[in-house]
Amino acid sequence: MRLVRKIASELGLDDLESGIDVVGTIAIVKFPPVEREKKAKIAERIMEEMKNVKTVLEQEGPVDGEFRTRKLVYVAGIDTRVTTHKENGIILMVDVERCYFSPRLSTERLRIASLCSENETVLNMFAGVGPFSILIAKKVGASVTSIELNKVACIYHAKNCKLNKVSVDIFNSDSRFSDSFLRQRYQRIIMPFPSKSNLFLCQAVSLLMEGGTIHYYRHMRGKSEREAKQHLEKELQEILPRAEWKIRRVRDVGPAMYELVADIILSDR
Ligand SMILES: C[S@@+](CC[C@H](N)C(=O)[O-])C[C@H]1O[C@@H](n2cnc3c(N)ncnc32)[C@H](O)[C@@H]1O
Repeated sequence: MRLVRKIASELGLDDLESGIDVVGTIAIVKFPPVEREKKAKIAERIMEEMKNVKTVLEQEGPVDGEFRTRKLVYVAGIDTRVTTHKENGIILMVDVERCYFSPRLSTERLRIASLCSENETVLNMFAGVGPFSILIAKKVGASVTSIELNKVACIYHAKNCKLNKVSVDIFNSDSRFSDSFLRQRYQRIIMPFPSKSNLFLCQAVSLLMEGGTIHYYRHMRGKSEREAKQHLEKELQEILPRAEWKIRRVRDVGPAMYELVADIILSDR
């Protein structure tokens, strides 16, 4: 990211760095409030400096709605929303406007994959285009099931399985009703929907095998990381008084807002 800092200071825009995500050949930029010509100039400099970037899009507004998507506006380069991203040795094709995808979670995905074992059954309740599920299937060979509400994300998830030569059972459905279409329980359940996963935790518990693990992602407010973790601790004590967990910080998502994950072990219900 030293490169981005260089462009930012060159153009007198010090807060540009935190506002760039590069997904495959597309740079998604949260521009500061400057006129169109200046945005185009910044975009050209980004493409000159980052040779892999062929498209620059502006993110207008936050990641939002049920599908966690964002409105993107073309700024420079090739006018497309579809790209192929490589991380942790897998390839992911994604439409960055119609599906959720964040390259910032690649280390966390690798951490989860490293906890899985070959003989495990894994359920991903919010699979997106498949970054967790495909990595686990590819690296570990576990038996993975994905649920995803967004039909477009499911289409890319299926394409990505083919690209990576893995097999994942994909349900284009609502995790809330997963009891009605899943016929088994799982040893590990991943819940990467940090803004709303609390609404699905009881459902996850009902799908978990005795002694299984749930990876529960949450956005938590707090003046400090410690305070945010205390809030999550309290939430878990209320919902799962008999479980054990370890809470980690995944990343900062805004001022006084943290993405946390609780690795929950449920031996007693
Ligand atoms: C924060 S994204 C995470 C996607 C993916 N795991 C990743 O890391 O890229 C949450 C995903 O949950 C999906 N989703 C939202 N509500 C859902 C529901 N009720 N059932 C299944 N999937 C849902 C959204 O469409 C979105 O793709």
